[in-house]
Amino acid sequence: MPETDPLRAVVLISGGGSTLENLAARIADQRLRGVRIVGAICSREGVGGIEVARRHGIPIELIPRTQFPDDDTFSNAITDVVRRMNAEIVLMAGFLSFWRIPADFVARVLNIHPALLPAFGGRGMYAARVHRAVLAAGESHSGCTVHVADNEYDHGPILAQRRVPVLPGDTPESLAQRVGEQERELYPLVIQAIADRGRSALPIMPDLLRHALPQS
Ligand code: GRF
Repeated sequence: MPETDPLRAVVLISGGGSTLENLAARIADQRLRGVRIVGAICSREGVGGIEVARRHGIPIELIPRTQFPDDDTFSNAITDVVRRMNAEIVLMAGFLSFWRIPADFVARVLNIHPALLPAFGGRGMYAARVHRAVLAAGESHSGCTVHVADNEYDHGPILAQRRVPVLPGDTPESLAQRVGEQERELYPLVIQAIADRGRSALPIMPDLLRHALPQS
């Protein structure tokens, strides 16, 4: 496959799909180049992200986590589809289930989390729960983190972060909005840096990639 062919990305979702929407829109208007979303996998039925994929003509497979007895059988099902879609990188985008990443995808999976990891991360910490915890802790700042996903929730090497202030009177919703604005910039920026380095620079080497990223 010539280097000029876009990187083949599969996106994992479980919810509204705002992250998928942002990435698909930026690829469509060429703000994000050198990567193509060849498919999406959703781990929950009846969520908005399924329609987002369809609207963008992205092949979507539904692998409902509730239909599997345990993380291993679910993970195997996800892996089968990721391989069948011939993914080179995998982008978690509001993905709320546990995928045990197989050896052939180690350091090829990214995640974005709506807080400044390692704080306010881990199993069960997602969406409004994160922002409620940040407010309850009286933090002066929050933000978002893009990291290489490994086999622990919100744990792998951090690639980039963006900080936002927590303002007086903030609610989980107002903080989510401010963090979300930064997420919509940061995830495409990291993915663009990976695409620019080309498939020969995969699996991701965090230290090298960080040098290619503006440190906020
Ligand atoms: C965002 O908070 C993002 O940080 C986290 O999932 C949320 C978006 O979910 N990974 P979705 O993309 O709207 O489903």
